[in-house]
Amino acid sequence: MSDIFSFNGAEGTGWSQPSPISGDAISTVPISLRRADLPRWPRASEPELVRHYTWLSQRNFGIDTGFYPLGSCTMKHNPRVNERIVQLPGIDRVHPLQPEHQIQGLLSIFFEMQEMLEVCSGMDQVTLQPVAGAQGEFAAIRCIQEYHKDNGQSHRNKVIVPDSAHGTNPASAAMCGYEIIEIPSSPNGFLDLDALREAVGEDTAAMMITNPSTLGVFEPEISEAADIVHSAGGQMYYDGANFNAILGKTNPGLMGFDAVHYNLHKTFSQPHGGGGPGSGPIGVREHLADYVPSPVADREEAEDGGATGDGYRYFWRTPDKTIGKVQQWHGNAGAVVRAWAFYRRYGRELELMSEHAVLNANYLRHRILNPESDVREKIPAMPVDGATVDFVKHEFTLSMSPLKEAVGVSGKDVAKRLLDYGYMSPTLYFPMIVPECLMIEPTETESIEVMDKFAEDFLAILSEDPSIVTTAPHTTDVRRVDEVQAARNLVLRHPCEK
Ligand SMILES: Cc1ncc(COP(=O)(O)O)c(C=O)c1O
Repeated sequence: MSDIFSFNGAEGTGWSQPSPISGDAISTVPISLRRADLPRWPRASEPELVRHYTWLSQRNFGIDTGFYPLGSCTMKHNPRVNERIVQLPGIDRVHPLQPEHQIQGLLSIFFEMQEMLEVCSGMDQVTLQPVAGAQGEFAAIRCIQEYHKDNGQSHRNKVIVPDSAHGTNPASAAMCGYEIIEIPSSPNGFLDLDALREAVGEDTAAMMITNPSTLGVFEPEISEAADIVHSAGGQMYYDGANFNAILGKTNPGLMGFDAVHYNLHKTFSQPHGGGGPGSGPIGVREHLADYVPSPVADREEAEDGGATGDGYRYFWRTPDKTIGKVQQWHGNAGAVVRAWAFYRRYGRELELMSEHAVLNANYLRHRILNPESDVREKIPAMPVDGATVDFVKHEFTLSMSPLKEAVGVSGKDVAKRLLDYGYMSPTLYFPMIVPECLMIEPTETESIEVMDKFAEDFLAILSEDPSIVTTAPHTTDVRRVDEVQAARNLVLRHPCEK
């Protein structure tokens, strides 16, 4: 199958419905709006069009195509039952402007989801409005900003982030107008408390931190860090992108955090990629509850037993000092319902998900870093393997640096070669504190067989002739692209479109 522009000029048409307009339809279009020339649209027949889109869909790599160990992105299987539920007419056919009494069921799902997230995170108020993790970060930092303002603390103009932070953390704080103070991690990859003590002060508005960190390790001194920031008058912000490692085991409230975002599209399964579509709710402690973006789902006792039969009437509420809306309507309702369906399937056993995610990450890490081989010399795990940490949470990082020095094979080369073996590349060159970093997250939905095969293929690549690896991929439709050219000389036109 070639691409659809090769059909240009043929007389086919991609539809087969009878025309709804009788007579000469063209005569109803004002002359000034009529085209002088035929557009250069492809003229494919209906079966050609269907084949084109089917072919196009097959060129994508996705979690449904193969193993997708993209660290930090949690690309896990999306249970199909979620899709069935979200397509039920009472959910799928609802308009955002529909009156509350007509959408009691959907509102009750929103309310239950808020409550569940509050319990799991140790927070007092959740809003489901933000539609991405990054938007959640922005919204929560804005709440913190307004809180400081109301307490006569507007001079607090700095947000502290560790150097292992996801790029969205400093970006979100900077969008709120904050100056970013980056603190280095200790040599073993943990938060450096001395560096934190030095960084905090009267101008500290907040600290943003991911735990487990982007290195896949749980910060052992997280409560001490919270104490340090709080005693300087700052707020603690928890990047919950890695929630899948701790859910049901511990929570940000217990660790001393004031605000958190969740990536429903990661932890609770959800088709995502390329930046969306997602859902990044935030949860905050009592003192920040009035500031969260509106609306939040709420409920009151109903004398008539309520439309859902649980004794409540559900409604949208605008928090008193809300920072306003960060998204149109009520957030990404489809994502919320899918996540709710996922959570309902697990129920109280949600912690099993975390256990399996952590077990899988450690299994795969040990399969790759087989202590009986020399592989640990070629690609040491970070933090320095064996020194402090030999047990990670839901993901792990590997440095391809020694391999690059020894035979010229970089992290990017290994990532590209994995495509030839039928895998999505792991996250590459992030976190930036690990040289030539590959970050691998198998998630809980992969089987031992898949991980064994991946480890075998990964190790095979390390022993391949470097000339094969450094020129990979060899089997994909698009081979290695010149990324500098692609960034500097972006060509978005199809070659057929002169
Ligand atoms: C640690 C961490 N924080 C924040 C984000 C941002 O989330 P989103 O992509 O939903 O905006 C990500 C996404 O990859 C992440 O991994």
